[in-house]
Amino acid sequence: MRASNAEGRPVTNGWRESAAAWIAEMGEHGDFGREFILDPALRDRLARRSFARALDVGCGEGRLCRMLREFGVEAVGIDPTEPLLDEARRRDPTGDYRHGRAEELAFDDESFDLVISCLTLIDIDDASRAIAEMARVLRPGGILLIANLTSFGTAGIGEGLGWAENAEGEKAHFRIDNYLQEKPLRVSWRGISVTNWHRPLGSYFSALLGAGLRLEHFSEPTPRGCAPDLIASYERMPYFLLMEWSKDRAPPRVEAGRSF
Ligand SMILES: C[S@@+](CC[C@H](N)C(=O)[O-])C[C@H]1O[C@@H](n2cnc3c(N)ncnc32)[C@H](O)[C@@H]1O
Repeated sequence: MRASNAEGRPVTNGWRESAAAWIAEMGEHGDFGREFILDPALRDRLARRSFARALDVGCGEGRLCRMLREFGVEAVGIDPTEPLLDEARRRDPTGDYRHGRAEELAFDDESFDLVISCLTLIDIDDASRAIAEMARVLRPGGILLIANLTSFGTAGIGEGLGWAENAEGEKAHFRIDNYLQEKPLRVSWRGISVTNWHRPLGSYFSALLGAGLRLEHFSEPTPRGCAPDLIASYERMPYFLLMEWSKDRAPPRVEAGRSF
């Protein structure tokens, strides 16, 4: 399913038009969620194993590919948004950044021992197909590391949803609705206007399990290294989750009672 307007015509996902504002918003270290929540959690996961070759799906302006280099990992970044790829190449001239879409990865089967999708599943029109592709290009024993928005967070996007305020203008409670209904949503902030998909968590899990992957890690990381009131506020309504899925090594071949 692709995002469409009221007449049923497909709309652009907004990334090309939003690229300059996105690059400004990310700066060198990413926005608040990346710098204080996701990147520290991703670093923890990356430090636990050694990886040789990684694919960053939806690499944007290339922050994660540059981070992977710190861990001695050779990274390839793919993204369909050319102005973001241009910025990634400008910041990292020796990096490997290629035009591509998650739904059709131009790589042989079993090419990578790590595939990363950081806040891209929400942007991808056909997430099931993308997940099957990510699993296909993973080597047996490899890891698919996913950071995504929580599904209750995306269920809170829209008119009359999200934070309700009390009489003093403070956050009272977070409103969600139609949780099980998968739908594209237009989200806009600071010059960025892109389509994000709301999907229930079960929809992502079905695709991941259907691709034959096994869940190794699940967490809802909280901010580190910032003011206590920001941490307390975030903990009321966490926006991010982190998952690590593994691709099984082929089971041993058994012949006439002997395994090889
Ligand atoms: C929210 S940004 C995340 C960028 C980067 N991974 C990060 O965490 O900073 C989403 C990215 O997904 C890319 N994207 C959109 N549709 C895609 C698709 N079908 N396949 C791969 N990437 C896609 C966008 O161009 C954009 O760079």
